[in-house]
Amino acid sequence: MATGCYPRLWHSSPKKPEQLAKEALGLCQAAGYPVRRPMHKPQDPIEFPEAQELAEGHAIKLLYPDPEGGPPRELLLSRVDGKIYAMDSECPHEGGRMAEGPLMDGRTVHCPLHLYRFEPGSGKAVQVDCPPVKTFEVEQRDGHTWVWVYGRSS
Ligand code: FES
Repeated sequence: MATGCYPRLWHSSPKKPEQLAKEALGLCQAAGYPVRRPMHKPQDPIEFPEAQELAEGHAIKLLYPDPEGGPPRELLLSRVDGKIYAMDSECPHEGGRMAEGPLMDGRTVHCPLHLYRFEPGSGKAVQVDCPPVKTFEVEQRDGHTWVWVYGRSS
């Protein structure tokens, strides 16, 4: 299972952002974390083949390239009632990282830091006053799963 591998000193490093991004990408790949890329153009959705193996009521964290050249970003895919949902893995409460593995009650994503729960589809917090998690549009077709991580341009 892929998990995050961000360099923690990102903001205090004297190195240029492009150099740090390159190093972060190298570290992630060397550690065996696959970083998925858009098919053709930078704004294309990204296919995540791992979604096909995702069990009902479970979540997995995956990486994708930052469009501004920063370190790879982390995404959480979850499956509820057979449908795949995608959200940013960063918790809007105090910046914790959403948990991989079984969902709470098989239906809600949770942050292990203070155990806030979020709805996978809407990103809304459950029974607590907290801003929603950023969610992404998902397209499932012919056994493939694409996520519009950079938004859908019309
Ligand atoms: S940081 Fe996620 S619940 Fe507090």
